[in-house]
Amino acid sequence: MASLRIAHLSDLHVLRDYHGSMLDREPLRQPVPPVEYFLTGLREAVASKPDLIVLTGDLVHEGTVEDYQYLRQLIERERCGIPVIPVLGNHDLKACFYRGYLGEEQSGRYNRKYEWNGYRFLVLDTSTERNGCGSITDEQVAWLAEELQTPAPQGTILLGHHPLESQQAWFHTDYPAALADVLKNSDVFVYLCGHAHYAETRTVLGIQQITAESFAFGVETVSPTEVIYTETRGYNTCWIDGTTVIVHPHQVFPFHPQICRIPF
Ligand SMILES: [Fe+2]
Repeated sequence: MASLRIAHLSDLHVLRDYHGSMLDREPLRQPVPPVEYFLTGLREAVASKPDLIVLTGDLVHEGTVEDYQYLRQLIERERCGIPVIPVLGNHDLKACFYRGYLGEEQSGRYNRKYEWNGYRFLVLDTSTERNGCGSITDEQVAWLAEELQTPAPQGTILLGHHPLESQQAWFHTDYPAALADVLKNSDVFVYLCGHAHYAETRTVLGIQQITAESFAFGVETVSPTEVIYTETRGYNTCWIDGTTVIVHPHQVFPFHPQICRIPF
């Protein structure tokens, strides 16, 4: 049976310089910027030698072409040859991502297909720039239906930014009713996402949905009209064994959390 180890990192919110950004203003100003937490998490993830790394959106926090070039340089410097799959979030500016990260002159939603070791990865761009709520269009559902017509040897892993459903009350995701049928009649077995800054696992439309933490801050809904921001930051390791998904959440600190290393 095929197996795969995925480092699932989300909501990096990288900038070269945070001065003047939302993340530099009260109440979100922090002594250690998100990029430092991201680098700590990325180095830790790379050291564990995953088969691939997925980044499920909010790569850059409303930055420029140069911020995406900076992010790409950081990733190329740290990834040790491990493939990295990017996904766009609502704080990503699409044209800047295309130019800075990919070196292409495009804009619009970023949907892509990859294959790895018998598994198919479908990247679905669920984001509208600067809009906290997610959306999946009829055209995207038609694209999914076409891509999923032929099953992949080991099954399909869906990647996007917004959870389809969430315990967080401060956003929602709109999608056509037809998405349920497309997923039900497909080999998609898991959806990896972010956005909520709140780790969560649930079943939605018959597939397992796994939401990773952020590297910027945690968010928790404490009442229908109130959220709290927390010092919670982290990422997931996902072991895929056939279509079974085992998830280990990692917390990330502004220092390496290892106490000691003991052979046995
Ligand atoms: Fe985010």
